Amino acid sequence: MEIIAWTKEISVGVARIDEEHQTLLAMLNELGQAMAADQGGEAVKLTSARMRAYAQQHFKTEEEAMTATKYPARTSHVAEHDAFIEKVLDLEDALGRGESVPAKDLWTFLRNWLSEHIQGPDKLLGEHVCAAGMK
Ligand SMILES: [Fe+2]
Ligand SMILES: [Fe+2]
Repeated sequence: MEIIAWTKEISVGVARIDEEHQTLLAMLNELGQAMAADQGGEAVKLTSARMRAYAQQHFKTEEEAMTATKYPARTSHVAEHDAFIEKVLDLEDALGRGESVPAKDLWTFLRNWLSEHIQGPDKLLGEHVCAAGMK
């Protein structure tokens, strides 16, 4: 699997948010490495649970920054966070029922969601937070 590197271009300008994005990308890359080692099947359950738990914590960081800076686009941004958590919870339920979820499907979903969300709504939030003088 290709390794998704965190680069300055995807920085949102807020250190704590950037660090948490780096951790999320590291988790995605661990899944990719497990797949490359033919251990994707076992990694799916662990990755989805870990990513979901960490994402919940990360979304809280962003949502607290939105509150602190009276972010006007809060509703649509939070809706994206909630949809992500719901999707991963559905996936965890499917795994719990013994259904198989291909590692490639999970990896592709996470890669697409993270790159679109970080470069879209998170970047806008970062600009707002920086402009509000809160880093
Ligand atoms: Fe984020
Ligand atoms: Fe976000």
